[in-house]
Amino acid sequence: MKVTVCIGSSCHIKGSRQIVETFQRLIKEKGLGDKVELGGAFCMGDCVNAVNVKIDGVKHSLKPEDAVAFFNEKINI
Ligand code: FES
Repeated sequence: MKVTVCIGSSCHIKGSRQIVETFQRLIKEKGLGDKVELGGAFCMGDCVNAVNVKIDGVKHSLKPEDAVAFFNEKINI
């Protein structure tokens, strides 16, 4: 599974770094390093939303405070 977090300036201001750190921690804690490829990407052209995160090419929008719930729902499967 490929997870890409937008680290463009608009998403950065909305907390993309915090989301990346949360995902990194959870991937490590849950031993998912072999299954989840976490990366960053520049602006995904959708800055009006919250932080944009793509999972296998499908774009989602989330706030940093929802990162754990998002991870458990969409990534830790
Ligand atoms: S900076 Fe993330 S969509 Fe533009």
